[in-house]
Amino acid sequence: MSHVYIEEIGQHDGQTVTLKGWLYNKRSSGKLHFLQVRDGTGVLQCVVFKNDVPAEQFALADHITQESSVVVTGTVRADARAPLGYELSVTDLQLVQLAESYPITPKEHGVAFLLDNRHLWLRSARQHAILRVRGAIIRACRDYFDGKGFTLLDAPIFTPAACEGTTTLFATDYFGEQAYLTQSGQLYVEAGAAALGKVYCFGPTFRAEKSKTRRHLTEFWMIEPEVAYMDLAGDMDLAEDFIEYVVQRTLRERRRELQTLERDTAPLERVRKPFPRVSYGEAIEMLQKLSFPVEWGADFGGDEETAISNAFDRPVMVHRYPVECKAFYMKADPADPRLALCVDVLASEGYGEIIGGGQREDDLALLEQKIAAHQLPSEAFTWYLDLRRYGSVPHAGFGMGIERAVAWICGLHHVRETIPFPRMLERLRP
Ligand code: 4AD
Ligand code: MG
Repeated sequence: MSHVYIEEIGQHDGQTVTLKGWLYNKRSSGKLHFLQVRDGTGVLQCVVFKNDVPAEQFALADHITQESSVVVTGTVRADARAPLGYELSVTDLQLVQLAESYPITPKEHGVAFLLDNRHLWLRSARQHAILRVRGAIIRACRDYFDGKGFTLLDAPIFTPAACEGTTTLFATDYFGEQAYLTQSGQLYVEAGAAALGKVYCFGPTFRAEKSKTRRHLTEFWMIEPEVAYMDLAGDMDLAEDFIEYVVQRTLRERRRELQTLERDTAPLERVRKPFPRVSYGEAIEMLQKLSFPVEWGADFGGDEETAISNAFDRPVMVHRYPVECKAFYMKADPADPRLALCVDVLASEGYGEIIGGGQREDDLALLEQKIAAHQLPSEAFTWYLDLRRYGSVPHAGFGMGIERAVAWICGLHHVRETIPFPRMLERLRP
């Protein structure tokens, strides 16, 4: 019998097909057992009628346990009441393995328990929907840059120096030498942009974040475009075009999953260019009017970002923060050198920063001064400074954290469910 996936069940109306999966849930009434079978692409109701199967298979349907692996054969029947519009009338039920008593039952469980059982929690319908949205977002990100003539340039994970600041480095022993897990591929895509013009990297990045917030992971995935001969204005244009594309395409491709997550998609439909742009100075004024005790010069925390983004119906781009708030590589604004030519894109609905980026310092002497002022080890940056020695050009880019984008698009409060196996301050397992 031909093996089909539940997702495609509609193409097999009236046919006899075989499903390979696991028992998700079950209810029984005398001569009938209703098995909810999942196969990774969906959940289908499989009806076992006493007269349709051998007696031992009917008995099996009665005592089969949650998450037992099964191969089910039957006839596909249209049924308007079924979630997928179809159910299966079972003619053969084969057990692959009878599962032991499954720890995650349909009742409520605490988050700590579920995270301890993350390897099993992934099987639930909600997690399933989130991971499928994540996959679609990542594909949309790649397709966007691939379709615009960017070249993928993978950055290394072992690095000799900090990119985003020394306080969040994970150190590791590299054959007797100190190395660090990368915080960002940016310095390497800058070399790539000087070689190939338009490049991007996409990979895991690491921050030894001591903060226990709903937005921080210690290991997260970041997509980072970098473009030669692009300035801050071009960077902001690219960021809003990219976000619009990723959101609208994910809405098209993953509407069913977003429904499972009970995501109100109306705010996502509004994610259309142009996004509002406010300067850091304007943002400070907004916050002060909302009675936040912030003074010019302060960086924004999660609460400030939430307040700013709540003031708009789509993502907002906050540009030109004070140089002190930002990393060493930021170019100062020639119009006001207290400010960096940078941008943070804050997602709508209070989700806060999803993109950070800006124009890079392209002057050798100024960059040397910045490296010294940030007390960074100059020998680790000699190669990076070469980029300012040999054909330096204005260039810019940004990084988007995939997990923050997934949390926003799925409407999740915390980033911990947006990645298959989250790494956080207090979590290394499973
Ligand atoms: O603002 P960040 O630190 O910028 C950079 O790393 C730049 N080098 C990127 C570039 O210009 N190429 O980080 C960029 C994004 C943030 O906006 C956020 O989405 C995500 O990375 N991010 C985190 N996501 C989860 N957990 C953390 N601890 C994160 N730190 C940053
Ligand atoms: Mg940032």
